[in-house]
Amino acid sequence: LRVVVLISGSGSNLQALIDAKNKGELPIEIAAVISNCPDVQGLARAAKAGIPTLVLDHKTYASREAFDRALMAAIDAYTPGLVVLAGFMRILTAGFTEHYLGRMLNIHPSLLPKFQGLHTHQRAIDAGETRHGVTVHFVTAELDGGPACVQASVPILPTDDAGLLAKRVQRQEHVIYPLAVKWFAEGKLSMEQGKAWLNGE
Ligand code: GRF
Repeated sequence: LRVVVLISGSGSNLQALIDAKNKGELPIEIAAVISNCPDVQGLARAAKAGIPTLVLDHKTYASREAFDRALMAAIDAYTPGLVVLAGFMRILTAGFTEHYLGRMLNIHPSLLPKFQGLHTHQRAIDAGETRHGVTVHFVTAELDGGPACVQASVPILPTDDAGLLAKRVQRQEHVIYPLAVKWFAEGKLSMEQGKAWLNGE
C-alpha cells in the first residue's frame, strides 16, 4: 500500500510508522512526507529514512481553498491508497476531506468524542478526568469528528501536568497508529456507511 504522510512538526508518529515498517511489521511504502511547515524535525526523520519530502507552506497561498487544492494535487501525484495525518495542524476544507473519504486517517490526543480541538491534555486535567488517551479515526469534514478506529487510554495521575500526560499518551500513539495503518493496509479496516469497521475473515 502506498501511503503519503502529512506532518507539521516533530514527526514522532511518522517515526513510529517508519520503525514498524523497518521491522517488517507494516506492509506499506511511504511514498512521500509532506509538511506545511519548513525545517521541522519530521522532515529530517523522513530524509534520514530515504523518503521523498515536500514542503507546501500554507502561508504562501492566498486562501485555505488554494492551499488545499495545491496539497491535493501534490498528494495525488504520489497515487496513495492511504493518506496519514500525523500531527498535521491544519483545518481541511470539506472538498479535501470528501476527496479522501475512507482513505485518510488522523490521530487525535484525546478519547474522542471528548476534547476535540487543541490543548487536550490540559483540558482533560482541568476537567478532573481520571483517564485520558488517544484516538485514531477516519477523517470527515467535521474536525476530529470522523469515526474512530482504535483508542488507547492512560491514567491521569495527581502529579501530572500537561507535558507529563502528553508523554504518557504519546507512547500509546506510537502503538496504535502503526496498528491502524497495518489493519488498513491488510484490507481489514474500512469506512462504510459513516462507520469504521474491522472486518474479520
Ligand atoms: C500528536 O500528539 C498527535 O496526537 C497530535 O499531534 C501530535 C503530533 O506529534 N495530532 P508528532 O509530530 O507525531 O510527534
